[in-house]
Amino acid sequence: MTDSIPAQSRAHEIAIESLLAEDRTFPPPAAFAAQANVQDPAIYERAAADLEGFWAEEAATLDWFKPWDRVLDWEPPFAKWFEGGQLNVSVNCLDRHVAAGKGERVAFYWEGEPGDRRVLTYADLLAEVCRCANALRELGVGRGDRVAIYMPMIPEMPIAMLACTRIGAPHTVVFGGFSAEALSDRLNDSAAKVVVTADGGFRRGKPSGLKVNVDAALATAPSVEKVLVARRTGQDVTMAEGRDVWWDDLVARQAATSEPERMESEDMLYLLYTSGTTAKPKGILHTTAGYLLGVATTHRYVFDVKPDDVYWCAADAGWVTGHSYIVYGPLANGTTGVLYEGTPDFPDPGRWWEIVARYGVTILYTAPTAIRAHMKWGPRHADAHDLSSLRLLGSVGEPINPEAWIWYHRHIGGERCPIVDTWWQTETGGIMIAPLPGLTTTKPGSATRPFPGVEADVVDERGEPVPPGEGGYLVLKKPWPAMLRGIYGDPERYASTYWSRYPGMYFPGDGARRDTDGDYWLMGRVDDVMNVSGHRLSTTEIESALVSDERVAEAAVVGRPDDLTGEAIFAFVIAKGDIETSEALGQELRQHVAARIGPIARPKTVMFTPDLPKTRSGKIMRRLLRDIAADRPLGDTTTLADAAVVDTIRDASRAGKDEE
Ligand code: WTA
Repeated sequence: MTDSIPAQSRAHEIAIESLLAEDRTFPPPAAFAAQANVQDPAIYERAAADLEGFWAEEAATLDWFKPWDRVLDWEPPFAKWFEGGQLNVSVNCLDRHVAAGKGERVAFYWEGEPGDRRVLTYADLLAEVCRCANALRELGVGRGDRVAIYMPMIPEMPIAMLACTRIGAPHTVVFGGFSAEALSDRLNDSAAKVVVTADGGFRRGKPSGLKVNVDAALATAPSVEKVLVARRTGQDVTMAEGRDVWWDDLVARQAATSEPERMESEDMLYLLYTSGTTAKPKGILHTTAGYLLGVATTHRYVFDVKPDDVYWCAADAGWVTGHSYIVYGPLANGTTGVLYEGTPDFPDPGRWWEIVARYGVTILYTAPTAIRAHMKWGPRHADAHDLSSLRLLGSVGEPINPEAWIWYHRHIGGERCPIVDTWWQTETGGIMIAPLPGLTTTKPGSATRPFPGVEADVVDERGEPVPPGEGGYLVLKKPWPAMLRGIYGDPERYASTYWSRYPGMYFPGDGARRDTDGDYWLMGRVDDVMNVSGHRLSTTEIESALVSDERVAEAAVVGRPDDLTGEAIFAFVIAKGDIETSEALGQELRQHVAARIGPIARPKTVMFTPDLPKTRSGKIMRRLLRDIAADRPLGDTTTLADAAVVDTIRDASRAGKDEE
């Protein structure tokens, strides 16, 4: 059955329709609120009234070689923060804590996938970073030279990142899971001089090669002069004479002190590539002072971190979440963190909970995709471990569906931990919309309020604010310290991608609505919005409705071209482990969505699939699902975590028939 309701006539065209209502609320527990880093709601008014004053006050908590002359120079879309100031990121993350007598505090509890462990104190980490910095200098890396880092999640990865910051060489971290081709593209775009890598890394118990991909990538990346190779798996690798050097040989013999460069506030700190709509990846450019300030401040306030917390951001450091909230924010705040190399279910789905119990993790930050995976495996794995040390939970990467939020709250947080759902992007550098956990009443599925100093809005096609409850486009109306400064080598693409749709406003590409309390509900990427009979529907709400059926583990919906309705909703559904899928179940799920959010949102087709195509950071690649649904050739698949998945789904889709 197909719905074809004409678009309702309204005063203006509805940008995105909002159908799902969620009314559960969770005020901060009194005991949590009483000890929180932010207890006074006046912080919001203070930052709104004096943006520069607010950030200047926060900036005073960093260590500067030379104070800034001017807080902000804003010539849209180009911002400069703290011009005239000089500082070094590694000094802020390491030296100043050691100098303050905190050298024996643990910086990282590291755990390898096979079960090997290392503990690095701040003093240890400083010494290692200095050795690596000296080694990079010996390899000819100077201030301003780009260094690519292509490593597994071993301590040498943050060490290499921090070493780059010490000598003023911007790094570009490339996910260890990316192919030689993807690596080569990034090496060329950044004209990297040195690559830091490892022989390989462990994934699901097996060594997988990294150096071998570097060798292949270098055939087409002539800028690279040297390769520094850490030993991780012990697998055989080819070392090119005069080009490749072992970490153990070069780094180990260096001095444990190293003079930090005095960097200018606006010097480039790093490039991080994200995929754009065209095949050419975008090198998102972040600079020194504003970025460090943004991530340190948001980390302190959103995660409420204290000196005795054990904080675990269970992401890969090769993703922006790892840059900002494993490495720079936490270390700037002198936090004790956990670093884990492997997958959540190796050797079994209890692995994460074992780690939480072993180190007494107090704050856990992860992605909805991981939470849904744990839901699928069942709560018994978490139940088998003592998770009572946890006091705060975080979520990032995509909208968290209310069902996953409630599961996280109940089974991981023991119903006592506030959840901070944090909306931000590689481009924003740090968290932009999130609760302050001592102040904000949370709602499952809402990222709640813009961080102090962030001015957001939800607008229609013309850039006019939409009324509460109506969906539209998220925009940001003021500059912020950690904002991207550009796309490397392409200022025009920067201006056109982010600043041209609504002049003077930053357009992140996400749909959102604001409720009557002013809380924000993210609705997914606007590129994924479906147009069904003139109604613009967000993927997020329909997926949330599907996952609210207890038999569904995960769902992704896309629009498929349809003669009658323009687009028809095609749902890919992963059923929970023990559920038998059938056409009847597909029908029930279609009805469930119709009952939950309205007939217009009823999927025309439900297809059961064992897996979904995702990026390495866990985002569903709906673009590929659209190709599969329409039976078109697939677009760019280089950022896919597991390339075989699309073939499996495509075969199933061609074999199956529509459940109409
Ligand atoms: C999505 C990850 C809803 C959003 C830090 C954004 C979210 C994109 C959330 C950026 C959230 C991230 N709620 N959507 N809490 N967090 N997103 O660059 O679409 O990997 O634009 O940065 O992820 O992804 P990126």
